[in-house]
Amino acid sequence: DEAGDEVLVPALTFVASATAIVYINAVPVFVDVDAETYNISPAAMEKAITKRTRAVVLVHNGGYPANMDRIRALAKKHQLKIIEDSAHAHGSSWKGVKVGALGDLGTFSFQMGKTLASGEGGIILTNNSDLAEKAFSMHHNGRQAGRPFYEFHRIGSNLRMTEWQGAILNAQFKRFGKQIRHREKNATYLAQGLREIKGLRPIKRDPRVTSWGFYYWNFHYIPEDFEGVSRDRFLEAAQAEGLPVGVGAHGAPIYNNPVFQNMKSIAGRRVDYSRTHCAQAERLFAREAVCISHTAFLGPRADMDKLLAGFRKIRRHAAALKK
Ligand SMILES: Cc1ncc(COP(=O)(O)O)c(C=O)c1O
Repeated sequence: DEAGDEVLVPALTFVASATAIVYINAVPVFVDVDAETYNISPAAMEKAITKRTRAVVLVHNGGYPANMDRIRALAKKHQLKIIEDSAHAHGSSWKGVKVGALGDLGTFSFQMGKTLASGEGGIILTNNSDLAEKAFSMHHNGRQAGRPFYEFHRIGSNLRMTEWQGAILNAQFKRFGKQIRHREKNATYLAQGLREIKGLRPIKRDPRVTSWGFYYWNFHYIPEDFEGVSRDRFLEAAQAEGLPVGVGAHGAPIYNNPVFQNMKSIAGRRVDYSRTHCAQAERLFAREAVCISHTAFLGPRADMDKLLAGFRKIRRHAAALKK
């Protein structure tokens, strides 16, 4: 509502989830994540709510839906707006409803790495006509639908996607459902196999996650169960085997970036992110978070067997890796 209002955002995400908040002169408040799902922790969220909290930008990290039951209950209790940053989550559903349609606004990215891609671009979903008008206006230099072309109502920008890109995107919808199901089938098979490898642990699937579309597939690496081999050493070995594995959950907690560490104030309010620490996010990033890109899941099941064979090989040689 006002400059200096607070907006909650998870510590593990892409920087844009938080910089978007600063763009509108609101103050991002970083919230720790749930150790199992890598998503914003509802318990930590509740602790972070103050009189000035107006909204939460939640992220379905790696496409795995955040706990929308608890988040929606909290939002209702504290009158918060919910913005679902669904940039990783095209096609995911919570209790049968697609993410992006569970809050007040849902945003998706079509940047070139995503499962629906048009080079650059994105979409905002809402069923609130006021918000839809504002979003239209913001992306169209502050114009207002139905008003003259050279009449401007707010500070916006040119954020329009070209029709050419739209056409490329549109064509992808024909195969999109099939691709989501194919990836998920492969991921489910991979998860079964990973459960048999000590030290590798897929996310425990909540039955309310009725579809898991993912940009990258997060899972857990448990060093203590892998002869004490560090996550980074495990990644090195996996990459040497040609396995497309990387640091999961989008890497380091975003408040550690210079943009936030060097920030002194927002809308006249002093901020000091050098004192921000989210214990789970920092631990997961340093020790446990691993992921596989969506591109690895579009092939045949045999590709999953190759991944599993590679992981088993590394597990067999874990003691040697420790040295
Ligand atoms: C969680 C998240 N939010 C927002 C974005 C930004 O999307 P775009 O680059 O399309 O603006 C990304 C991009 O990867 C993302 O991962």
